[in-house]
Amino acid sequence: MTGSAKFRPAGGTEKVGPPLKWAGGKRWLVPHLRSIWELHSHRRLVEPLCGGLAVALGLRPARALLNDINPHSINFFRWLKRGLRISLPMHNNKVLFYEHRARFNELVAAGMDQSKEAAALFYFLNRSCYNGLCRFNSRGEFNVPFGQYPAINYRTDFMAYRAIFANWEFTTGGFENVNLSPDDFVYADPPYDVQFTRYAKEDFGWEDQVRLAEWLSRHKGPVVASNQATPRIRDLYRHWGFSLRELQGPRMINCSGDRTPAIEIAATKGLYPPGKLRRICKPISGTQH
Ligand SMILES: C[S@@+](CC[C@H](N)C(=O)[O-])C[C@H]1O[C@@H](n2cnc3c(N)ncnc32)[C@H](O)[C@@H]1O
Repeated sequence: MTGSAKFRPAGGTEKVGPPLKWAGGKRWLVPHLRSIWELHSHRRLVEPLCGGLAVALGLRPARALLNDINPHSINFFRWLKRGLRISLPMHNNKVLFYEHRARFNELVAAGMDQSKEAAALFYFLNRSCYNGLCRFNSRGEFNVPFGQYPAINYRTDFMAYRAIFANWEFTTGGFENVNLSPDDFVYADPPYDVQFTRYAKEDFGWEDQVRLAEWLSRHKGPVVASNQATPRIRDLYRHWGFSLRELQGPRMINCSGDRTPAIEIAATKGLYPPGKLRRICKPISGTQH
């Protein structure tokens, strides 16, 4: 089965993969997670930091609780659940991009960021802006510039998502506000721990990584958490009793042109039978910690 075929519904040809571009999207991790998930697919999938939904759309749970601190992506997903068709003009055009960006910011300022129009504009901005970034200035305005891509494929009809999302609940807020049931299967994918750069001080700092690991450790059911394999992340999850497994992330071109794949870890607990992950997540180094 090809990668894109995995995201097609049985008997259908329509593509229902992640609809947004999302930094740190884990589509590549889905084949690893699927073999774990198959043991737990009777459970509700909970993603406290669901991002662009690559994992939920890859695993297709019958029931899910999907949360993210970003209210705009969650608003967009809620509109997909209702059944969304976008009628506003969408073209790969700089002037139109800045008009739509200004209108989106107007809606946010007017407290109408949960509207259908805001959802449609967010989709357009996500597809058209630089690197699909989602950044806001100190006044709360979306301020990512036009992406200048040679071509962009805009989707206008999202009705295919309605049936898939029927029993998925979307919430927005900090991960610690997510109400877990003891039986839930939790997959947590925070922003990477970037230990040695200035970016570490940004949105999700070290204190947040610590709070998340502790919060996850209190969950009674199965948990998988992924992250960059920095020494302190390994120590943190080991400290809270998780098993760690190294995974090879996708090859990223860094600023020096190096294509070295990032080393990631999957920290797990409460999976059964014991040791299953050893066989499931193909190790890159043969080491399990
Ligand atoms: C690496 S991304 C998740 C990517 C996702 N697994 C996917 O495949 O698309 C991390 C997400 O954490 C969210 N986030 C950051 N801080 C958060 C917090 N305190 N609580 C909940 N979500 C948060 C970000 O908005 C971002 O969407």
